Parts: sequence; C-alpha cells; structure tokens
Amino acid sequence: MSDMIELRNVCRFFQNSKNMFQKDKREVRAVDDITFSIKEGEIVGLVGESGSGKTTLARVLLSLTKMTSGSVVIDGVDLSKATNKDMDKLHREIAVVFQDPASNLNPRETVESSIMRPMLIHGERKAQAKQKAREVLEMVKMDLRYLDSFPHQLSGGQLQRIAIARALALSPKIMILDEPTSALDVSVQAQILNLLLDLQERMGLTYLIITHDLNVIKYISDRIAVMYLGKLVEFGPTEEVGVHPAHPYTKGLMDAAPILDPRLRGREKVIMEGDPGSLMNVGAGCRFYARCKYATEECKLNDPTQIKLSDVHQVACFHPLKI
Ligand SMILES: Nc1ncnc2c1ncn2[C@@H]1O[C@H](COP(=O)(O)OP(=O)(O)O)[C@@H](O)[C@H]1O
Ligand code: SF4
Ligand SMILES: [Mg+2]
Repeated sequence: MSDMIELRNVCRFFQNSKNMFQKDKREVRAVDDITFSIKEGEIVGLVGESGSGKTTLARVLLSLTKMTSGSVVIDGVDLSKATNKDMDKLHREIAVVFQDPASNLNPRETVESSIMRPMLIHGERKAQAKQKAREVLEMVKMDLRYLDSFPHQLSGGQLQRIAIARALALSPKIMILDEPTSALDVSVQAQILNLLLDLQERMGLTYLIITHDLNVIKYISDRIAVMYLGKLVEFGPTEEVGVHPAHPYTKGLMDAAPILDPRLRGREKVIMEGDPGSLMNVGAGCRFYARCKYATEECKLNDPTQIKLSDVHQVACFHPLKI
C-alpha cells in the first residue's frame, strides 16, 4: 500500500522567547529530525509524555506551523512546494479533532451550524450541507434531535462525537486526532475509540492518533511511533512495540500504564525515575540518558541514531532491550 503521509527529517525548532534579550538564546527543538510514514488506510499511534513534541508535529502536518527543515509529503503533495490549489485539496482531505471539545466547537453555534460551517466555507450549497450534516450525525450514532443543541447542553462524549461528525463532513481521507479521548471518562473513551475504529474500517480513512496513553494506542493502532523530547525513539508494528518494546523509554511507558494485557503480567519492570525531562537542557547525548537505567558513557556523549531491528521495527538506542 502506498504512503499517505511521509515525513523526512522533519524539524521544528522554536527560539525560547524568555531568553530573547539574553546572550544564550536557546532553541527548543520540539520536533527534531523525525522520519516515518503512514500508509493509506493505516492507523498510526503517536505516543509520548507531555512536552515531547506530538502536537507540534501534528501542527506541521496541518500546515498550522512551518517546518524549520525537512520534508512532508501528504497524498502526493509536497508541503514545501504546495500551490494554493494543492493546499485547498489538503484542507479538504485532512480533518482534525482536538482533545478539548471547547476548542473543537463554537459555544454560540448549534450543532447543525457547527457541522455545516466547514462545508459552506468550502463552497457547498446550503441544502447539500444541511443534508450532509444529518448524514454525518448518523455516522457518529447521534440522534438528529441534537442538531439544534448548543455545546453546553452536551456531555464530553457527545461533544467529541459532534467534533468527529464535523471532521467527517468534508469526506476527508486523513484524520489527525490529538488526544481525542484524554478528557473523557474511561467508559466513554472506549466508546469513542470503537466509533473511530468503525469509521476507519467503513471509510478506509488514514489516522494519526496522538496520545500520552499507551493503552489507547495499543488498542487502536496498526503501528506505534514513540516520541521523547522531540525525537522519534521507536517505531514499529503494535504487536512488536506494544508487546516487546526495544527502547527503555517505551518499556518505561508500558510499565507506568495499567497492565491490561495478560501476556505482560509478571515481567521485569523498568519504571522510569525522574521528571519527564525538559527540552531546555538537552545535552549532546541520548535525551533519555538521565532517566535510563541502561545508560553507559557512550549514551552520555553521543546521540543514538535509528537502527533497524527488523524490516519493520526501528529504534534509536545504543543498547536496545532484547525483543
Ligand atoms: N509556539 C511555541 N513557541 C515556543 N515553544 C513551543 C511552541 N509550541 C510548542 N513549544 C514547545 O515545544 C515543546 C513540545 O510541545 P508540544 O508539541 O505541545 O508537546 P506535546 O503535544 O507532546 O505535549 C514544548 O517544550 C513546548 O513548550
Ligand atoms: S541510548 Fe543509552 S541512555 Fe539512551 S535509551 Fe538507549 S541505553 Fe538508555
Ligand atoms: Mg499535545
């Protein structure tokens, strides 16, 4: 299957504004040399603690922020060479759902007009948009009586369904979901994940789903990408990365998450020590050095590059765990 999204050496650095008038203007390397791809119809889960650069990467894909360097090709369109026409095409093809229902919907708009707005912006006729609003509401399994509701009248789960309905209105090929279930109760989370899986299967959508919750990722994704302080530290099929992680950080994330998978009970744990770390004091070596119980002198001095453990599984670590 062909690649729907291809990232090559993507970087997004920020100048730290607090230091603007100081001599040591430090760069925040929020996204640092990220390379991976997402195939058409695939679900890739991007996981990492808060501050690891996940949202910045999503914003690059959505053209909401410019890359510092690197290349992104989405459905054949190279973002750095895209014409206005290409960008129009991509705006229709890529839908986004954020964590916070409030940022997805305007509080003063009814559900119907929230869903219709992107269609009207893209030049669809009102009658058509009205009809489509009904269709997508049914697709997210909500009663049509909610068309006249306002966001404050709906629960968190219902709001996320509406956000998904609105995202579907332009018949996208790709959905970028940034922590879509993080604000929801666990029972509602499962319903939303099942809805997303159902929609993906029915419509052959391509998903990039971002979360800090490894259990969510393991449940829904075909492949898992793990980020730590701006770096992609591991990438591979869910059945490998999710069961036999090779990077000590991935293993640490797994050990910190409640164990839902019986195959993993009773294994040795690598629970991580220390804070998530900060992009402000990244040294020359491995960014996970200070928290890693396998660290050696080599890890302190050098930044590990990606190595292939198999055709499909890659890791950036000098001493990957045995898989
Ligand atoms: N516009 C910005 N200006 C400066 N720094 C930013 C900006 N956006 C994000 N960052 C920094 O980039 C890092 C990654 O942030 P983010 O992408 O939001 O991570 P995540 O989504 O994984 O929590 C953080 O250190 C954050 O402070
Ligand atoms: S490179 Fe070294 S410090 Fe980094 S994760 Fe691997 S073993 Fe740990
Ligand atoms: Mg984020």
